Amino acid sequence: AKKAVLGPLVGAVDQGTSSTRFLVFNSKTAELLSHHQVEIKQEFPREGWVEQDPKEILQSVYECIEKTCEKLGQLNIDISNIKAIGVSNQRETTVVWDKLTGEPLYNAVAAPVSPGPSDPVAVVRSGSSVPAAGTSSVWLDLRTQSTVENLSKRIPGNNNFVKSKTGLPLSTYFSAVKLRWLLDNVRKVQRAVEEDRALFGTIDSWLIWSLTGGAHGGVHCTDVTNASRTMLFNIHSLEWDKELCEFFEIPMKILPNVRSSSEIYGLMKISHSLKAGALEGVPISGCLGDQSAALVGQMCFQDGQAKNTYGTGCFLLCNTGRKCVFSEHGLLTTVAYKLGRDKPVYYALEGSVAIAGAVIRWLRDNLGIIKTSEEIEKLAKEVGTSYGCYFVPAFSGLYAPYWEPSARGIICGLTQFTNKCHIAFAALEAVCFQTREILDAMNRDCGIPLSHLQVDGGMTNNKILMQLQADILYIPVVKPSMPETTALGAAMAAGAAEGVGVWSLEPEDLSAVTMERFEPQINAEESEIRYSTWKKAVMKSVGWVT
Ligand code: G3P
Repeated sequence: AKKAVLGPLVGAVDQGTSSTRFLVFNSKTAELLSHHQVEIKQEFPREGWVEQDPKEILQSVYECIEKTCEKLGQLNIDISNIKAIGVSNQRETTVVWDKLTGEPLYNAVAAPVSPGPSDPVAVVRSGSSVPAAGTSSVWLDLRTQSTVENLSKRIPGNNNFVKSKTGLPLSTYFSAVKLRWLLDNVRKVQRAVEEDRALFGTIDSWLIWSLTGGAHGGVHCTDVTNASRTMLFNIHSLEWDKELCEFFEIPMKILPNVRSSSEIYGLMKISHSLKAGALEGVPISGCLGDQSAALVGQMCFQDGQAKNTYGTGCFLLCNTGRKCVFSEHGLLTTVAYKLGRDKPVYYALEGSVAIAGAVIRWLRDNLGIIKTSEEIEKLAKEVGTSYGCYFVPAFSGLYAPYWEPSARGIICGLTQFTNKCHIAFAALEAVCFQTREILDAMNRDCGIPLSHLQVDGGMTNNKILMQLQADILYIPVVKPSMPETTALGAAMAAGAAEGVGVWSLEPEDLSAVTMERFEPQINAEESEIRYSTWKKAVMKSVGWVT
């Protein structure tokens, strides 16, 4: 059969906490031509610990590329039209690997870990040299709480030391303390650092290094958006900060080179794991942390434009232009993007909610009240109300605007009438209330309230969630017809890079993306009453862990 003729194509790896995807877009219209998705395992070896296997992550990327290329073949689309590849990724998740062997240094170990006493770090230090099964410390992981407490006692100068340089509060969420933990607790990591074999990276670095040749010439780099989530990066000078590295005692030689979000980092080198040989030599030329990628994919290039992405967590980013705005209300200051080596850097204010899609996964995997994530909509629709039940999914403490590590999840307001449908509804409402909290903080910090909210991410396919979100925010919610905005942003950055030049970043190159709008349908008073009851529930979730 004759192959279809198309404009240049751009591929994007979207490596999230819950799944990996590879997607291929037409750079002239942003039409999504083909994609493949693989779910990623999360290990919870002890309470508060969350780990993933970097090799499984890499393997999932190879699998997604292969399957997507196969599907393109079935559509008669020639994969030699793929001119560039972008990478977007879950941020903060920390990997250390051996540059000579390509092996991650925090090894998955078969020995089962018995449920430990409440201080897991102490167990590891006094016990085996093997911390736990799993190989990378995920952003939700809480094992570094005691590290954070100790560090906060010896912050030099005033408490603003970390925040003024990085835009971030000292928290278990960011990579520096996870890396500190690995350096303190994993003998293999210590040895590799001594022997000059260790490389550190967030998931973008791990993937780009591996895809460009790994131990055989892989490029060790990251981009400014991912670097800005490590707590080691100075967001003003756009360099690794010597004082911060000294404070966290991180050897600077293991850090990746920091590049812009749109430039050629290296060329795809096919390893034995990847059969899709045709991508050999394709430049990897876009790299953004997933939340920045979504901001680009939503074309939020103007000061004051904001988007909210519903993934494992929920992340609302508002572009603040070339100014670093520091929040008075618990938001983070972060690098939004820098689309080219010689292009200016843009900043964003970010409201981060730890648990959004993850609550649905929990209802599926831990409680078993749904078999697939999509079923949540059916259950919620059956009742159309939580019947006074409120669910605060503070599984990893509360992020913005509270930053309260002592919080834990609660379900309250239960009666004998409450059933699983009400709990399903309350879980969806929780996602919306958490978004309202960060939107309120954002409005207070920015001064000009948002007139509508641009949304994206897998959960936005859930119409009940979208309607609830409009009701609870009391402003319209606008969603693109194609929810894979994160991948689109990475593809746009890759296609626009110097030396690639197949994407212009103008609205006409997004003609395939149409918008759907959800208007508030309840009255303002009802919306306020529900929101204030939610806040009461939040207060009850605080202080469970001391
Ligand atoms: O900061 C964590 C974030 O990047 C994770 O994104 O898509 O897994 O919720 P996601």
